Amino acid sequence: MPDVLPRTPAAALDEARRRFTAAGIPEPRREALRIWADLADCAMGDVLLGREQPIAPELTDRFARAVSRRAAGEPLAYVTGRAGFRRLTLASDHRASIPRPETELLVELALEQVQRGGAVDIGTGTGCIALSLALEGRFSEVLALDLSADALALAEQNRRSSGLPVACVRGDLTAPIASGAVDLVVSNPPYLTEGEWTSLDPAVRDWEPRLALPSGGDGLAATTALLDDGRRVLRSGGWLALEVDAMRAGEVARRAGALGWTAVTVRRDLYGRERYVLARRSGEP
Ligand SMILES: C[S@@+](CC[C@H](N)C(=O)[O-])C[C@H]1O[C@@H](n2cnc3c(N)ncnc32)[C@H](O)[C@@H]1O
Repeated sequence: MPDVLPRTPAAALDEARRRFTAAGIPEPRREALRIWADLADCAMGDVLLGREQPIAPELTDRFARAVSRRAAGEPLAYVTGRAGFRRLTLASDHRASIPRPETELLVELALEQVQRGGAVDIGTGTGCIALSLALEGRFSEVLALDLSADALALAEQNRRSSGLPVACVRGDLTAPIASGAVDLVVSNPPYLTEGEWTSLDPAVRDWEPRLALPSGGDGLAATTALLDDGRRVLRSGGWLALEVDAMRAGEVARRAGALGWTAVTVRRDLYGRERYVLARRSGEP
């Protein structure tokens, strides 16, 4: 930022836009506006309406620091500390991966199958899936589970600020869940291969927790473990809803069928990519 602090949002936004353009950030104007709106806790339209008003030096200062972080490549949701997911605005920081739009559809698909009884979100991260299930479903109990103590602390923070009835539990996949305890298991587990993680866009790989991304040499370690033990934790007739990599959806469905799941279907995201596998636990144990 220049030596003299900008005195209006318009000047500050203009300077930020120049820095973002130089740093190769897509949509530099929109991102500058988004950061300002989040820091000022107002809508983007309100920022534009007041763009020629004098501003508090404290806000200008915070904006300048946020712009420097974003220009250095830090993801927008970590810089602003916020991420939108379905009907929620969640706290977001380096402790957990950033919720993605495709996961919003996973919640939709899960809720189409089950809305009552017990639900568990495995690998909860920010808590986005579990909190949405609690907000939009009619479950008697929702568990948010993660192996990462950091992610779970962030999920707990989001649980407290949302006031939603979700229990945050630390543990390894389905291990902490009693047999036949739930009607719905939803998970967006780590699903990249080690090789895919290495060649991932640095904007993701260098900032988001490694534990959230790769899962064994074939990318299927967590997914296969969920297929293996998921039937144990579900009541008869319960559903499993998984987010998967588009290249491996068919393989996940094949493994599900081989492990005794019924009604196995592969579903597509809004771009037509095969990104979800749904499966049901039949009556037999
Ligand atoms: C792709 S992120 C998904 C986070 C969040 N559910 C979302 O959709 O934004 C995967 C999550 O799984 C967690 N995880 C990885 N291995 C795990 C394991 N063995 N048991 C439980 N959680 C695990 C990671 O810490 C991470 O939060």
